[in-house]
Parts: sequence; C-alpha cells; structure tokens
Amino acid sequence: MILESIKKRFSVRKFKDKPIAKEKLEAILEAARLAPSARNIQPWHFVVIDDSQKRKQLTEICKGQKFVAEAPVTIAVCATNLDYKMTCGQSAYTIDAAIAGEHIALQAAELGLGTCWIGAFYQDKMAELIDLPKDYRVVTLLPIGYPDIKRKQRILKPLKEIVSYNSY
Ligand SMILES: Cc1cc2nc3c(=O)[nH]c(=O)nc-3n(C[C@H](O)[C@H](O)[C@H](O)COP(=O)(O)O)c2cc1C
Repeated sequence: MILESIKKRFSVRKFKDKPIAKEKLEAILEAARLAPSARNIQPWHFVVIDDSQKRKQLTEICKGQKFVAEAPVTIAVCATNLDYKMTCGQSAYTIDAAIAGEHIALQAAELGLGTCWIGAFYQDKMAELIDLPKDYRVVTLLPIGYPDIKRKQRILKPLKEIVSYNSY
C-alpha cells in the first residue's frame, strides 16, 4: 500500500555516518525521473552533491543548518523554463520540481533512508556551488542519509478541517 510507504517518511535532521549504496541512490533518482510534469516538459535537473568539500559549504548556504552537511548526499532539485505559467496562473517549474522532490523523499523512505526538505538556503550561493546555468533555479535541497533518530508523533490537522465537498 502506497499509504504505508507515505507514513514512513518524516523529516530527518540527524544522519548516521554511513554511505548510501550506489543502487539505492540510483533507485531514488529513477523515482525522480518518473515524476509527472506539466506538458511533460520535465524541466528538472538533479545535482547529486557527495563531494566532501562541497558538502561542508552546505551548512553556511543553508543558514547554519549543520545536519545538511552531515548527510552523505544532498540532492539539489533544480528546474528551468522559469517563465512558463499554466492557465491556472501557477508557475509550472516549482510544481514539477516539487513533485519530483517528493518522489525522492518517498523512495528514500521506502529504502530505509531519511530526507528533509530544505527551503532555507541562499539561492545565489547554492547556484554558485553547483555551477548552475543562469536559466535554472534550485527549488529545494534534499539531504539524504540513514536516520539517526526515531520518528516523533506528528501533529496533523484532521481531515474534517481540511476537506470539504462541492464548495469551500
Ligand atoms: C517546502 C519545504 C521547505 C522546508 N524547509 C525546511 C528547512 O529549511 N529546514 C528544515 O529543517 N525543515 C524544512 N522543512 C521540513 C518541514 O519543517 C517539515 O516537513 C514539517 O515540519 C512536517 O514534518 P515532517 O516532514 O516530519 O512530516 C521544509 C519542508 C517543506 C515542505
């Protein structure tokens, strides 16, 4: 059941000092590749950061979030086609990249790995670190590693508060 896999994911901010096997990383990237995107443009590019010198710089780029540099791998989910807005008025690239990002998070959880979505990072410094072309943006960072913490009880809104039928 997909719901069981979804329940395995939580934000991991403490990682074991243990590398990720190549096959696991490849399965995670394949999950990202399979994500849907508006008009199937697939505007994304995934930069896998595993170089120790680059990883060290992630703490400062992520506003002092030390755990990001402690993860053996961080995937920078990048996207282009920045001007494309769908008829609904939403930018497609952020949505497309976010879906791919969550595919990454869920596949990682299924493999016993932890991730955390990172939105608190400096766009310009991150772009410089990975030599990002000017027409791309980093939408999110996903540090990945073996969790060194147990999941806590989450406080989530009940369905009756967030769902209505036929009108708001
Ligand atoms: C778009 C986005 C950006 C986030 N940015 C950060 C971040 O910079 N640092 C961090 O520690 N957690 C970040 N988070 C994680 C959220 O705090 C977390 O998902 C939320 O508290 C729910 O907890 P859970 O992921 O364990 O279910 C982010 C999550 C999302 C979806």
